[in-house]
Amino acid sequence: MLICEKPSAQELDYTKTMNLLDIIRRTEEPEPWEEGNKLAWDDPAFSERILAEHLSQEHDEGSRRTELIDAHVDWLHNALLKGKPSKVLDLCCGPGLYTQRLTKLGHTCAGIDFGPASIRYAKEMAQKAGFKIAYTQGDVRKTDFGSEYDLITVIFGEINVFKQAEFLAIAKKAKTALRKGGILLLEAHRFEAVEEIGMGAPFWYSEESGLFSETPHFCLAENFWAEEDAVATVRYYIVDAATGEVSRQAWSTQAYTEDEYQAVLREAGFKEIVFHESFGDVEDESFWLIEAHA
Ligand SMILES: C[S@@+](CC[C@H](N)C(=O)[O-])C[C@H]1O[C@@H](n2cnc3c(N)ncnc32)[C@H](O)[C@@H]1O
Repeated sequence: MLICEKPSAQELDYTKTMNLLDIIRRTEEPEPWEEGNKLAWDDPAFSERILAEHLSQEHDEGSRRTELIDAHVDWLHNALLKGKPSKVLDLCCGPGLYTQRLTKLGHTCAGIDFGPASIRYAKEMAQKAGFKIAYTQGDVRKTDFGSEYDLITVIFGEINVFKQAEFLAIAKKAKTALRKGGILLLEAHRFEAVEEIGMGAPFWYSEESGLFSETPHFCLAENFWAEEDAVATVRYYIVDAATGEVSRQAWSTQAYTEDEYQAVLREAGFKEIVFHESFGDVEDESFWLIEAHA
């Protein structure tokens, strides 16, 4: 597969029907990225269901809760951009929770995400507020970024879900889209946090309806840590309670040391690279906040 070509939702495993025998005969240790690129964010039905998780104030999955996003945006606006109206692009922007707030503070924002429900919600919210925000439903590996940004962000660890060559291609594209001195800001996983995902114990649960299906189902999950490549993979088998039909989703996360992050960003053409321990006042030991200057 070419690195910049993602199979369409129809080609991915999560739309294929399997049966219980497929679980019994599964590959014991799947190769990273072999059994699914990432969660099915771009599948229309999954996208609708995960939108509710993005907006939920009961947990910080999909997106953080309002209080944390407000604190992040406060740091972006006051500390990073020094309150100066700036041109900002949010990659993998989800439902636009950062771009809406930054626009309110006087910045000119754009967002790219391939989740149809997230982009629909982001556009609706912008229209309601009377904000002009350029949202594009597209894959960041293929979509044009535009130019002359002061800041490009990738928030909540999504950069690690791309293969390293894809990360490099995205970083290079961002470098070109930034004005001289502009900043690429990555909220990226720390090595140990990815290793912990991969070393997690298998688990299962049942639900009447949830993220993976609207109908009663079981979810059987396994985690894997490919030590040599430093990649964690999580694989889910979803079993429909009524029919016994099975579907599969899997996603892999690449771990990087600080030196490895530096190497990719330098290869992409960034010069000054700063690692922040926290996102302003918000501490999260799973992430680095990496500021790379074009
Ligand atoms: C963990 S969520 C974070 C959303 C947002 N950054 C936030 O913190 O609220 C990851 C997002 O990345 C998006 N995404 C993942 N891969 C993508 C790709 N290749 N192109 C565009 N969007 C992508 C998903 O649709 C999802 O909205």
